[in-house]
Amino acid sequence: MLLFEEDDFVKEAPVQPKAVSTPVLERTAANQPSSSGRVNAQDKRVINGQTDVNQLVPFKYHWAWDKYLAGCANHWMPQEVPMNRDIAQWKDSTALTEDERLIVKRNLGFFTTADSLAANNIVLGTYRHITAPECRQYLLRQGFEEAIHTHAYQYIVESLGLDEGEIFNAYREIPSIRDKDNFLIPFIDTLTNPNFKTGTLETDQQLLRSLIVFACIMEGLFFYVGFVQILALGRQNKMQGSAEQYQYILRDESLHCNFGVDLINTIKLENPQLWTDKFRDEIKTLMQQAVELEYRYAEDTMPRGVLGLNASMFKEYLRFIANRRCQQIGLDVLYPGAANPFPWMSEMIDLKKEKNFFESRVTEYQTGGALNWD
Ligand SMILES: [Fe+2]
Ligand SMILES: [Fe+2]
Repeated sequence: MLLFEEDDFVKEAPVQPKAVSTPVLERTAANQPSSSGRVNAQDKRVINGQTDVNQLVPFKYHWAWDKYLAGCANHWMPQEVPMNRDIAQWKDSTALTEDERLIVKRNLGFFTTADSLAANNIVLGTYRHITAPECRQYLLRQGFEEAIHTHAYQYIVESLGLDEGEIFNAYREIPSIRDKDNFLIPFIDTLTNPNFKTGTLETDQQLLRSLIVFACIMEGLFFYVGFVQILALGRQNKMQGSAEQYQYILRDESLHCNFGVDLINTIKLENPQLWTDKFRDEIKTLMQQAVELEYRYAEDTMPRGVLGLNASMFKEYLRFIANRRCQQIGLDVLYPGAANPFPWMSEMIDLKKEKNFFESRVTEYQTGGALNWD
């Protein structure tokens, strides 16, 4: 049985909820129990809602609850993946080329801080602006998954004995990484600013813009050069423990991106006034800038061809992904005709956890065991 069957690149975006009645722009007592009686599902709103956020049911946003359940079913921990062979390969001067080592270090340099940025964006930003409890439930799960991802990267850094100062400071010191983060940070700052509140056309558009940047550009585009590189190493029997960790992360991120797309599309349905021509043009420009930044990252991490990959293949791949993200949120494609040069990436997302996990498992969860009070 597949635990996660959503193929990010094959299937269409998940089913959208039905259109709802007039949006509520006044945000009042969003964090307080309603004094006007029981919650009616039809009164719930994803943003600027006035129903009690402490009351999960009656459900309205079933897609969010379903994704919460899917995230839980995908649970994994970094220590469960054996790293012995990776450690031996990293120590063996003949097992990996310098270009392959550069890929691993740059990758970890980007991801160690990217997932902390993602977690902070959820916990300190997005969460408090979302007034649908089903969506909040998913965001709590997502926040924990981002912590697991940061844990996984730290676990790889520690296992391989890498220079922690070099890896964890890469987002300040390596231009191609720093530029990606500098692109993202203003949008994260918008949501995490304690004075930022939704409820006007301008601030609701700011929120929607930041959600699109987070789901469709950060999680949906900026992670993909790195994922392809490490998974390509694994496909050549190199750094397979690291590649397995990345495979679990890729599956999680695919779900995060799909949740974000559903969230964005539901906000659009409930607040059609936000989706203006000017706003759409802004999003297209941001997407084009992001493709350019991620391509520069590909060039920087692969100064020469390596693993059968080269930077120009990534240009096509990034255009293909950007088209997909645009379509998912109802925009025209930006790069007509772009094709996927890495069709094997779809298989990577459809990971069969039971097979991989239980063949290689090294630690035991305490779940299911009897409680020990000693
Ligand atoms: Fe993550
Ligand atoms: Fe994520």
